Amino acid sequence: MSDLKWWETAVIYQIYPRSYQDSNGDGIGDLKGITSRLEYIAGLGVDAIWISPFFMSPQRDFGYDISNYCDINPEYGTLADFDEMISKIHDLGMKLMIDIVPAHCSDLHPWFEESRQSRDNPKADWFHWVDPNPDGTVPNNWLSFFGGQAWSWEPRRQQYYLHNFLSEQPNLNHANPEVREALNQVARFWFDRGVDGFRLDAVHTINGDQAPYLDNTANPDFVPGNLPQQQQPFFRQLHDVAQLNQPAIQTFSENYRKIADAYNGDRFLMGEVDGDKGRAMEVSKTFTDTGRLHATYNFDLLTWGGLSVDGLRDAINNAVDVFNGSGRLCFAFSNHDVPRSATRQLAALALGPDQGDAMQLLLLKLETCLIGSSCVYQGEELGLEDVTDIPVEQMQDPWGVKFAPAFLGRDTCRTPMVWEKSNQHGGFSTAESTWLPVSSQHLKRAGLDMAQTDGSIYQQFAQFLAWRKNQPAIMNANTMSTVSGDARTLVFDRISDAQTLRCTFDFDTLTASFEEI
Ligand code: BGC
Repeated sequence: MSDLKWWETAVIYQIYPRSYQDSNGDGIGDLKGITSRLEYIAGLGVDAIWISPFFMSPQRDFGYDISNYCDINPEYGTLADFDEMISKIHDLGMKLMIDIVPAHCSDLHPWFEESRQSRDNPKADWFHWVDPNPDGTVPNNWLSFFGGQAWSWEPRRQQYYLHNFLSEQPNLNHANPEVREALNQVARFWFDRGVDGFRLDAVHTINGDQAPYLDNTANPDFVPGNLPQQQQPFFRQLHDVAQLNQPAIQTFSENYRKIADAYNGDRFLMGEVDGDKGRAMEVSKTFTDTGRLHATYNFDLLTWGGLSVDGLRDAINNAVDVFNGSGRLCFAFSNHDVPRSATRQLAALALGPDQGDAMQLLLLKLETCLIGSSCVYQGEELGLEDVTDIPVEQMQDPWGVKFAPAFLGRDTCRTPMVWEKSNQHGGFSTAESTWLPVSSQHLKRAGLDMAQTDGSIYQQFAQFLAWRKNQPAIMNANTMSTVSGDARTLVFDRISDAQTLRCTFDFDTLTASFEEI
């Protein structure tokens, strides 16, 4: 038996609820829909499910703009639907993680609606309100991650407010103890309802006492690389001195950890964390120091343009250098924010279109053999490709809508799941049209069909996860050697007292092999 906590080795399946399964024919996925697909997820043998936000929200950033943290957006269902879902998840032997957004809320949250009215209302100090410069311009040079200034003007207060993402996502003022307490209550609300852990959104963008609102400095090492052009101005700056990664984050983390620990010591806090180039690991380490978050979500395998074999090795070794011996990090190859790995990595590894399935399975095996936890994004178990032919008028992601067609944003990885080839919209919905179109390209890989097809990625991955559960080197310790190999292979050992397992990933033959040594 392993002494490790469940989250130290967990394989976590990420659901984007808007696109998983529609149960009421409105073209939008919902909680009842998820409940109806839980056997399919359990069949993979994953340990936990993480569901992206389904709380009350005007959906400007599709749930990452919350207007009530303790209720369900009606298009996703009700709290009763949530209770039914979590109880079935637990019955099937899995844990549930939900996505809490502590850095910002919606501009339609009553907190912000009140705060923006005047400079002296009870919520006046719940956000970052700053006077304009004498010439009327914005307080400093901070930019929003989604493009443009990080400041918007509020005529009633004659002040600017801060938003690191959309202007509809005002940043909460974590220097205010009332704000911190309000967010603490959110944690208790969901833990009391049985949730096993939180994925904490954009923790590095939590802002506390930011005065005197220093300018960000220029990033002397900026190279565009394969960054989308629309994001380049943001990355021309260094943020960790002024705008991001501020001390208020640690106060937040410590508060949340105390709350989590009060629930039988088994609740998990995983923070989405980033830092200026080359600093992500250092920042992640600080965030997971004693008494803070249990783990951070590592972005390094998620690079927009994909990674070569050498790039994969460097990214893994950077993380292992800092975290070896612990389960304090989570790896992922895909999520709802970047082009799907089946497409992105195929190009970066210089593989041909007929090699997609073998590559996808290899990547799934690779990430679930690394130390710590890993997140598998819905559709990776099917090898779903990125969908790049969505007509501009049907695009939804505000980031993509703003910059299309030069930049497609994140709709390409968010199209609805497909379940049965022969069913309308692949079985996702009975509606005439769905919120994003179902890809006809995906139909040949429909989930329920693949779950019953011998040799499919779904089946091979499920068999692999069953094998993984019996490997002491992976399940009982979080220790691995540095990754070696050559331009087409990655080789490392997983090591426990009982077993040393040599893991070899060959990107020419697209096979993984394992040997006890
Ligand atoms: C989420 C994004 C979201 C952003 C702002 C993230 O990192 O994953 O989907 O747009 O935070 O909340």
